[in-house]
Amino acid sequence: MLGSGKGSNFVAIADAVAAGRIPAEVAVVLSDVESAGILAHARDRKIPAQYIPPGKFRTKLDEEAERAFVSALQAAKVDLIVLAGFMRVLKGDFLRAFEGRIVNIHPSLLPSFPGLEAWKQALDHGVKVAGCTVHFVDAGVDCGPIIGQQTVPVLDTDKPETLHQRIHAAEHELYPKCVAAIAGGGISVAGRRVIWKK
Ligand code: GAR
Repeated sequence: MLGSGKGSNFVAIADAVAAGRIPAEVAVVLSDVESAGILAHARDRKIPAQYIPPGKFRTKLDEEAERAFVSALQAAKVDLIVLAGFMRVLKGDFLRAFEGRIVNIHPSLLPSFPGLEAWKQALDHGVKVAGCTVHFVDAGVDCGPIIGQQTVPVLDTDKPETLHQRIHAAEHELYPKCVAAIAGGGISVAGRRVIWKK
């Protein structure tokens, strides 16, 4: 699992693994942010956790960092990469090394509101329903085949923080279900469409 932030989605998935609801193990947690909560949560659970400096760019990994991330993931023999609040766009060599095996969660109902602070974009746009999306990662930003989505209402009284909290709670339900389905061989991909077999 890769993340840059507090790691609440990591916690939801690690708890689901521990409870036997996901037929997998979290092999390693990597972060581009040394102080990220996700690293601390992983260490609390005795899961290997490593900070890898991201290099000179702000929104992507530089070449050396990309190589370091790929090596660490290969050394841990991972089958699936779960992005949980990893705030850098993955590029060429990284994507090629793990083609079709990277998933992400985004705090909007894609394809609406890709990019940063999606919950704020949704509120500013005036939508009445918001939510989150789990999707495969391809070369675009927030645009690979959609695995699952969960909706939440937008209330007239919402501020960005209250809507974000409601979306976060939905993420913690949706992401473990999607990862469990992938790990259990329960989905297949046909072009842009992801089919749930059961
Ligand atoms: C989540 O809301 C996730 O959807 C978002 O970062 C947050 C991470 O929270 N990801 C993106 O915006 C990616 N484009 P967490 O660290 O508590 O899991």
